[in-house]
Amino acid sequence: MPITTRVATSSDVPEAAAVLAEAFADDPLMTAIWPDQRQRRNALPRYFTASLRHFHIPRGGVRVATGIDDTIAAVAVWDPPGQWETNLTTTIRALPDLLPALRTRATAAITIRRTLDQRHPHKPKHWYLVNIGTTRKSRGQGYAARLITERLTVETPTRAYLVCTHTDNVSYYNRFGFTVTESFALPTGERPTMWAMTFNM
Ligand SMILES: CC(C)(COP(=O)(O)OP(=O)(O)OC[C@H]1O[C@@H](n2cnc3c(N)ncnc32)[C@H](O)[C@@H]1OP(=O)(O)O)[C@@H](O)C(=O)NCCC(=O)NCCS
Repeated sequence: MPITTRVATSSDVPEAAAVLAEAFADDPLMTAIWPDQRQRRNALPRYFTASLRHFHIPRGGVRVATGIDDTIAAVAVWDPPGQWETNLTTTIRALPDLLPALRTRATAAITIRRTLDQRHPHKPKHWYLVNIGTTRKSRGQGYAARLITERLTVETPTRAYLVCTHTDNVSYYNRFGFTVTESFALPTGERPTMWAMTFNM
């Protein structure tokens, strides 16, 4: 199956948000924000729409992988070096789109965001893999691997950082050269463990 990748633009937001919402439907971090499954499933498409539109697509690092029918099979949300922090003006602009997704879970989301931001390294500058997801039907066909390896091999040296939210995925990221630098628990919900991972090459 030929895989094509390209930079995501604002016209990709609805389709890319749907791919991420499906991929993260049972993710431990998303479950810590929205423990109720129904609430989470309703919230995720809106959440990813707001997050892509206001924060990540404008930074230029989001890439999508498509298959033979040109639909999006996988999305990698990369923030370019030095651009992972969100300023207050952008956050305020995003609120009308974010709040309908967060509703009663806004405090949990802010608490988790703060925990992730406190752990995030400032130096050296690095690409930040915020989210990566493949639709269920397209998994195991190399879509996510392509979106990771092309980012890690296009420039040398490359440094990258991510927070792995699921124990099963630690070995997935190890395949590409990421190693765990620390693990920590989120402060809310079932206090799931997260793994900070870095890539230096
Ligand atoms: C993790 C995820 C993005 C992988 O996407 P994918 O497109 O299926 O991955 P690929 O097909 O590119 O995988 C490449 C290889 O890794 C293997 N692999 C896939 N998931 C793996 C895992 N969790 N652990 C170890 N290996 C894994 C594949 O079998 C494949 O092996 P091969 O090259 O020997 O055939 C996808 O499973 C997903 O969307 N999961 C839900 C969302 C998620 O957990 N995101 C990451 C949050 S930390």
